[in-house]
Formats: sequence, C-alpha cells, structure tokens
Amino acid sequence: MSLPTLKNDVFLRALMREPVPYTPLWLMRQAGRYLPEYNQTRARAGSFMALAQNPELACEVTLQPLQRFDLDAAILFSDILTVPHAMGLGLDFLEGEGPRFARPLRTEGDVEKLAVPDMSRLQYVFDAVALIRRELAGKAPLIGFAGSPWTIGCYMVEGQGSDDYRLIKGMLYSRPDLLHRVLEINAQATTLYLNAQIDAGAQAVMVFDSWGGVLADGLFQEFSLAYTRKVVQGLTRWHDGRAVPVIVFTKGGGQWLEEIAACGCDAVGLDWTVNLGRARQRTADSVAFQGNLDPMALFGGESAIRAQARRVMDDFGPVQQGGHVFNLGHGISRYTPPEAVSILTDEVHRYSVSKHSA
Ligand code: CP3
Repeated sequence: MSLPTLKNDVFLRALMREPVPYTPLWLMRQAGRYLPEYNQTRARAGSFMALAQNPELACEVTLQPLQRFDLDAAILFSDILTVPHAMGLGLDFLEGEGPRFARPLRTEGDVEKLAVPDMSRLQYVFDAVALIRRELAGKAPLIGFAGSPWTIGCYMVEGQGSDDYRLIKGMLYSRPDLLHRVLEINAQATTLYLNAQIDAGAQAVMVFDSWGGVLADGLFQEFSLAYTRKVVQGLTRWHDGRAVPVIVFTKGGGQWLEEIAACGCDAVGLDWTVNLGRARQRTADSVAFQGNLDPMALFGGESAIRAQARRVMDDFGPVQQGGHVFNLGHGISRYTPPEAVSILTDEVHRYSVSKHSA
C-alpha cells in the first residue's frame, strides 16, 4: 500500500538547506506531560512502558501535539532507552523518579555478556512508526530517533540518571577497554535500530547525545563523537525516493561544534548557550541547525516568548536557503502552559515569512 503524499515538507527541505517559505518548527518532547491529553492516555495505558509498547497508544500521543499546535514535524513517541531494554537490562520508569534499569552493567562479566539485540524485540517501535505514518496522512513528516551510544551507555552503567556520572566515568578512566566494548555494541545496535525505523517510514532521524557535554575535551571525541559518527555513517540516507536527513544533538557540545558538524550529519541540534549566527560562521554553512530557544523562555509570558523567538531567528541571520529548523535547546518542561506553545508557533511562522521572501 502506498502512503499519502507529504503535504508539508518544509522541515525536510530546511534540513537539506533547500529554499523554504518560512522557518519550520517542532519541539523536543512535544508529546509529553505538559499536555493534559497525554496524561490521560498515559493513565489509560497504566505506565510509560505500556504506553510506549502499544503502537495504537504511541500513535495517539504522537499525533496529539499536531492536533493542538501548528507544528511542522511529528516525532515518534518512544524513548532512547528501548534499545538497552531490548538488550535485557530491564527498564522501568518509577513514578516521579525517571528511568531505572534492573540489571545495569557493573562488572566485567556484565559487559562480556552484552550483545546487539535482535531487532524483532523492538518490533513494537517499528509497528508504531508504520501506524503513525498512515495516520499522519501526509500532514507532516515523521522523525525517528535514538540515543547516542555514549548517552544510552550512561544509563546502562549508572542504572539511572546521574548528577556526577561517577560509575561510567570510573569505568572510562579505569577500564577504557570495557567501555569501548559497550559503546561499540551500542553503535551497532543503534545503527540497526534507526535503519529499521527508516524502513518502517521515519522520514528524518535524530541522535540524542544528551550527556556528551559532561565529558572532558579529548574524551568527548573518543567516547562519544567517534561512536555517533559510526552510527551516522551506517545510516540509510535515501528512502522512498527522497533524502532522509540526519540530525545530531549534543547538549553542552557548543565548543565541539566544528567536529560534530563534520561527523556526516545534515543538521546539528544546538542548546541555548550557542549563538546561531556564530555557529553558521564556524561551520561555513556546511550543515543546517536546529534550535535553540531556552525552554524556560516559555515561562516568560507572551511578549517575552515572542521577543526571544525573534532573537533566535535574528541570530541565525538572513535565510537564503533553508538551514534553520526552530526548536527548543532541550526538551519542553512538563510545567509549560500549553498556550505558550501556541504563541511560539505563531511567532516563528509569522516572523520568519519576511526573512524568507527577502
Ligand atoms: O520528543 C518527543 O515528544 C518524543 C518522545 C521522547 C521521549 N523521550 C518520551 C518520554 C523522546 C525523543 C525521548 C528521548 C529521551 N529519553 C532522552 C533524550 C532527550 C533529552 O531529553 O535529552 C533521554 C535522556 C531520555 C531518558 C528519559 N526518559 C528520562 C531521563 C525520563 C524521565 C525524566 C523526564 O524528562 O521525564 C524519560 C521519560 C520520558 N520519555 C517521558 C516522556 C514523555 C516522561 C515520562 C512519563 O510520561 O512518565
């Protein structure tokens, strides 16, 4: 069965730095707890994992933000930790505490037993992708995603979120050989996982290196970027007659921008500490950028939201080609008033039209 044609490809064109009529936008974590309808569906599912593993419900929450707001892309509802869960680490989300693994990697024996999982264990994700594509009916493109090998490694070794990354950095400094084995397996698994999402219908993919920025210079390149590069270089870049753009987002990675931009990706996601105009200069416009409004700006009230959104677009500068996808610099806060998102989408679309026709 062939899929409906895409009615809004502004996001995909901007990522490939092709001409676009306005700046497209979507928001990291756009389907989530700041939306009452998300909380209702999640309550019906019973738990985060039950929601993520049910393709019908995952599809429902993926579409919720697009029903409410004028967004230019949908992102698959899932989590970066589905991959280590498929490796047998036993993922659970405790109420109010975030993710936790029952069997984290703590010993040499744990690392030796680790293997690339059979992708059939992640079939629920690929089923969700296919279903979402059908239900989207060409309204907007669908983004697939995965965590970077380093970022999922953090959770696999720490067993949960961390303030200091003591356990994984302890492994990095004492037994780099063990950590390299973990990261190599993660890179292979992530490549297979993203390619299966593309096969199932994901029209762009994003690699979240949320914790790359906690590494020392030199070690970021060796333990995070090298493995992200392996993933990017193994991805299917053309599917169904069109390019599949790849976005790499390293939170706190601004000082390594030139190196990240050279990993083979089409676009780099930036947090709010980086000036978009200077980012363009530093990379000689060789990639597109996605970002980078501080998510907390959405708590500033209408005039501040509009002014800060314009500042981000003005920082990017003149738009001859595409090259800018508006987003937040990290995930939207669960406490964000939904009206703030309506104001933001209105300002980005309204203000950017003049920049593109100039
Ligand atoms: O962006 C989207 O709308 C798509 C869905 C998505 C989720 N997680 C759903 C989710 C995406 C892209 C992710 C990625 C993810 N997950 C990252 C990378 C992005 C980032 O924020 O840096 C990371 C580090 C995780 C791991 C994770 N998942 C944590 C730390 C938590 C708990 C803390 C938190 O922010 O809520 C989750 C849970 C999670 N994943 C929720 C959602 C909507 C909230 C949980 C719930 O509904 O109970």
